[in-house]
Amino acid sequence: MDYKNYIAQKICVDGVTTAEIYEAIALPPNSEMGDYALPCFKFAKALRKSPVMIAEDLKNSLQTDDVISEISAVNGYLNFKINKDGFVRATLDKILTEKDGYGSSNQGAGKTVCIDYSSINIAKPFHIGHLSTTVLGGALYRIFNFLGYKTVGINHLGDYGTQFGKLISAYKRWGDKETVQQGGIRALNELYVRFHQEAETHPEYEDEARAYFKLIEQGDEECQTLFRWFKELTLKDVQKIYDMLDIRFDSYAGESFYSDKMQPVIDELKEHNLLVESRGAQIVDLEEYGMAPCIILKSDGTSLYATRDMAAAMYRKQTYDFDKCLYVVAYQQNLHFKQFFKVLELMGKAWAKDLVHVAYGMVSLEEGTMSTRKGNVVFLEDVIQKCIDKAAGILVEKNPNLENKAEVAQKVGVGAVIFGALYNNKIKDIVFSYDKVLNFDGETSVYVQYTCARAYSVLQKGGVPETFEIPTLTAEEIELVKALATFPETVASAAEKYEPSYVARFAVDVAQKFNKFYFDCKILTAENEQTKNFRLALTNATLQALKNAFALLGIGIPEKM
Ligand code: ARG
Repeated sequence: MDYKNYIAQKICVDGVTTAEIYEAIALPPNSEMGDYALPCFKFAKALRKSPVMIAEDLKNSLQTDDVISEISAVNGYLNFKINKDGFVRATLDKILTEKDGYGSSNQGAGKTVCIDYSSINIAKPFHIGHLSTTVLGGALYRIFNFLGYKTVGINHLGDYGTQFGKLISAYKRWGDKETVQQGGIRALNELYVRFHQEAETHPEYEDEARAYFKLIEQGDEECQTLFRWFKELTLKDVQKIYDMLDIRFDSYAGESFYSDKMQPVIDELKEHNLLVESRGAQIVDLEEYGMAPCIILKSDGTSLYATRDMAAAMYRKQTYDFDKCLYVVAYQQNLHFKQFFKVLELMGKAWAKDLVHVAYGMVSLEEGTMSTRKGNVVFLEDVIQKCIDKAAGILVEKNPNLENKAEVAQKVGVGAVIFGALYNNKIKDIVFSYDKVLNFDGETSVYVQYTCARAYSVLQKGGVPETFEIPTLTAEEIELVKALATFPETVASAAEKYEPSYVARFAVDVAQKFNKFYFDCKILTAENEQTKNFRLALTNATLQALKNAFALLGIGIPEKM
């Protein structure tokens, strides 16, 4: 039940709409005052009355009922207390009947959201910098799905450019089939790094690389075969990571997919008189909008990253008829997205407003940053493995008799990596620290997982009650239920703001409130059967809500830890 809405419907203020009242209703900082409060100073000007008087008059015009148990006017605030029994009953019933669907909705029915995420570069290491786009995109994919949208996950592969000419040149000069087949991305990266080292003293290698790239473009059999092989090796390697992180795509159409779909972009740009020649290149001037020009074609007639993105956007609109198309890409590319979104708008594409750059901050390791060209790069696979190993170490120490150690360590380690990238507001830069993400007492996934294991254990001992009555409620119980009840709106705002961190924070908040309840209220040894049953039901509902939240983030929950 939406209590805010229920309250808003009851209140009449001259010249103020119900929607405005709904917006104004807030949660008081301390629940002694009430569960909801309407700050009346917002209406003082319109009503030409003091907030204190408005609150007083409103209070006198309203009556308590089954839902609202108390109304008070304090210092210009109109405070409401909700009938806790009814609220607790309704919340638990909802969670326990909707189960895995608790928090879902059909707000997105009939709508499509394309999500461009992870979008790796072929033959380049999948490093810690790709973590955020992959897990943020994956979480958004599941969240939109949960809200009834049709979601299309797109891995816009970086599989176009002279670097593939470099790779062919390096492979032909120093490569060996067996080594590359075995070594995958790591072997390809070594070749790439070597190319750059040696090209410093052999500038002619650069020309050779350009020539090879041209051959790929012209469909040369041998170069095409090598290029396809590099792509296969890369995708096979990253699939291991995608499997661990529970990441899925519906399309792998990357940059090269659009190399023959550029003409319509050029034609339409010409039609709208948007193309200008500048030093041999074809550009769209964006000075009027305070941006550098968007380069469409280089002087040699080849396309650019932006051109291919425009072709991709047009293709996606045509193929999926999206309501929104999200690009989960680091903020370093802010200008790129602003530019090509603008150009599409100038081309008269009304849907350009539905393109959204979901920008996020940098992730670095405590140990320091890296450079692909120099080769001192930290592979994400190694980071995940290190987290799993560390988790295994901690688990053995805490619980030497734990069954399925490896499986639990996997869930804890992978969860720590995902949660570490998702817990903060996405635009913030983060420094990844193994100790921090694996802290059992921190705001971490392992803290939440541990709380779930505690709930599982309680339920195993006490059983899951078929029915329950509401006893005299404690403050801890009410706080926990209040937190649980926010899940549906949390999921909806996570989608609206493209912010999976809301879901992560929900999980930590619920876990903290559950633990407070667990330590302050006896569950299995409660004073009477009614209270015990209720507390078991509350434990069960907590576990369900945490499971749903973690499922959206792609993190598993072990039953025992
Ligand atoms: N491959 C690019 C990179 O690593 C990201 C691509 C993002 N998606 C897009 N449609 N531009 O920087």
